Amino acid sequence: MAHVVLKDLVKTYGGFKAVNNVSLTVNDGEFVALVGPSGCGKTTTLNLVAGLIPITSGDIVIGDRVVNDLDPKDRDIAMVFQNYALYPQKSVYKNLAFPLQMRKLPRDEIDKKVKDAARVLDMTHLLERKPRELSGGQQQRVALGRALVRDPAVFLMDEPLSNLDAKLRVQMRSEIKRFHQDLKATIIYVTHDQLEAVTMADKMAVMNGGFLQQYDSPAQVFAHPMNMFVASFIGSPAMSLIPLQASTANGNTVLTSAEGWTLELSPRNARKVAEATTKKVVLGARHSTIKLHKSAVPGSVPAKAYTVEPTGDVTFVQAFLSGAIVNVSVPPTIAVAPDEQIWLEFDQERMHLFDGETEMALKAD
Ligand SMILES: Nc1ncnc2c1ncn2[C@@H]1O[C@H](COP(=O)(O)OP(=O)(O)OP(=O)(O)O)[C@@H](O)[C@H]1O
Ligand SMILES: [Mg+2]
Repeated sequence: MAHVVLKDLVKTYGGFKAVNNVSLTVNDGEFVALVGPSGCGKTTTLNLVAGLIPITSGDIVIGDRVVNDLDPKDRDIAMVFQNYALYPQKSVYKNLAFPLQMRKLPRDEIDKKVKDAARVLDMTHLLERKPRELSGGQQQRVALGRALVRDPAVFLMDEPLSNLDAKLRVQMRSEIKRFHQDLKATIIYVTHDQLEAVTMADKMAVMNGGFLQQYDSPAQVFAHPMNMFVASFIGSPAMSLIPLQASTANGNTVLTSAEGWTLELSPRNARKVAEATTKKVVLGARHSTIKLHKSAVPGSVPAKAYTVEPTGDVTFVQAFLSGAIVNVSVPPTIAVAPDEQIWLEFDQERMHLFDGETEMALKAD
């Protein structure tokens, strides 16, 4: 296996920058998810690494080689795509063996690699079947197997699970994670599904509009989103973002809503707000850090329930607050009705504060 370095990677189409100065390092054996909304440049980035499209500028290093000008076949990578493109007339065995025959490997070596891959992916019993005799998940496993037999330095995967139904996707998610752990493989995995990225990857690269927004472990990205885009993209239901106005009186910093209520900040949060370039401050809160009250308690602010969605374990309440929609989760035992007047209490230790102009997270020190 090998590490991968992207350095100031740029891809332009005409005047449009699909990939804009992306730099990141994927360590040897690491599973990195490229995640972001449709059109943000994930596939383009992966295709640049694979060599399927030429780079505009920057460098790509795989192992110890700069591969900018190498053909895909010379980059020592294997790709797994969304449409697994198996040969329909060939058995699973032959599908796996084919790339090795192309490389003119000896027959007994091919046989060993195919059988090893089949064992790793638990499909020894499927080797004689044709693709049409397999389920979607089994076909996807064959596609993985075909990448695996090539024993590449890096696996590149572009939304490999998006053709599968929801249940199978969850199962294959664990299988790919297991595959990574067993092989200690270097994997770059593209997905627009933030949950897939959070659950599978060692690190996630969050992209938007061709730019790399944040690159860190899922836990860090979740706990410390660097800006409002990352804050709202990672986590489900999304973090609520409430635009407010900051002011200081008698040494206390308060946030005031358009509706007129105020929220006094803790000293640490007040220090964060002091770093803002503007009086406009956005309060970010995840559903699990907001308490819902049926009557006013000190520190709570008035809101109105909008929708109520029981899911069994928890009930998700969407509420209107200062012109924003706020997601709150409550135990199923708490009954809330749409249009009911409620009060919300924010956890000062776990709230996020963003600069209303730059949209960057405000830090205390
Ligand atoms: N060959 C091309 N010519 C012109 N523009 C392109 C070309 N390929 C991609 N783009 C544009 O580059 C941007 C990034 O595309 P890309 O396929 O990398 O997005 P993505 O993040 O993979 O999105 P999705 O989640 O929908 O697959 C998009 O705006 C797309 O329209
Ligand atoms: Mg794509």
